Amino acid sequence: MRLALLFVFLMAILSCAACYKEIAMNRLHGLERLPLRTVFGPESLAFDRHGRGPYTGVSGGRILMWQGNDRRWTGFAVNAANRRRECEGSDVSMERVCGRPLGLQFHHATGVLYVADAYFGLLAVGPTGGAAEQLAASAEGVPFNFTNGVDVDQKTGVVYFTDSSTQYQRQDYILAVVTGDATGRLMQYDPRTRKVTVLQRGLRFPNGVALSGDGSFLLFAETGTCRVLKYWLRGPKAATTEVFAELPRYPDNIRRTPGGEYWVALNREKIDLNGAANTKAAAEHPVAMRLSAEGKVVEALDGEELASVSEVAEESGSIWVGSVEMAYVDVYKL
Ligand SMILES: *[C@@H]1O[C@H](CO)[C@@H](O)[C@H](O)[C@H]1NC(C)=O
Repeated sequence: MRLALLFVFLMAILSCAACYKEIAMNRLHGLERLPLRTVFGPESLAFDRHGRGPYTGVSGGRILMWQGNDRRWTGFAVNAANRRRECEGSDVSMERVCGRPLGLQFHHATGVLYVADAYFGLLAVGPTGGAAEQLAASAEGVPFNFTNGVDVDQKTGVVYFTDSSTQYQRQDYILAVVTGDATGRLMQYDPRTRKVTVLQRGLRFPNGVALSGDGSFLLFAETGTCRVLKYWLRGPKAATTEVFAELPRYPDNIRRTPGGEYWVALNREKIDLNGAANTKAAAEHPVAMRLSAEGKVVEALDGEELASVSEVAEESGSIWVGSVEMAYVDVYKL
């Protein structure tokens, strides 16, 4: 059973590798590392309306804020009001109980921070932080099982988010990939009506979400097929989906840049048959790609210094790199 799964998984990697094409890779210089202490896994990064941050969700259910002046992380929010004491500093084994904040995004006009928690659904945190409020945990009567990515239309306040699977939880994400699970959904949440609408169902591991600058379309990563898909919100093609980009590895979070392009993190988590780090593969494969507004690759980040990448965000003249696997956020000056 195990071997069969490994085989399917390797085939999945190969099918991603098939669409890989050589491009010049950029090794960023001037790395600065912002270490976390008792927690790990800063999966997503968000900046508030004053450009402060990043804010990031970590293991155990906390959302931290980077204090640039003091050069340290401070607590900003927790993912539940009734959070259990043993969640403090807990690891993956406690996730089902403690939740796991993944995607983050602010609505700047209200200062509300939206959180896609893998286990607790779509959450909101007020501008002063504290305990998150649960906004939604199901849609069309079907519970979320793996809430993952989130973005916000800054003009309307409408929230777009994904549930990667109704069958598998984050702890079992490999199963979601290898079984070809196609129960993922792309959704919107309207804060005025407090209603969730399913935009697309039957997706293979929908992950990160990024709204276009003019709000006319939404990009989302379909991790299971190594693609970025484009969902039209307005115009003649409204409510239809097309392929935006095919990628060499599993895409994770997507962030729009100030210049109207998109950083797509390419998660390189994979099963290692020998139990040893495959540094050669790491050096030869990109861990993130910048895509033009048309979906063309314009830059790729080399995987040598960046071990595992969940999100790349461009803000305040720097590139910020988060990873669900690491105990730090990396920053590079542009
Ligand atoms: C959610 O995922 C868990 C673990 O992968 C699974 O046991 C459970 O049945 C799933 N829930 C639903 C409603 O399918």
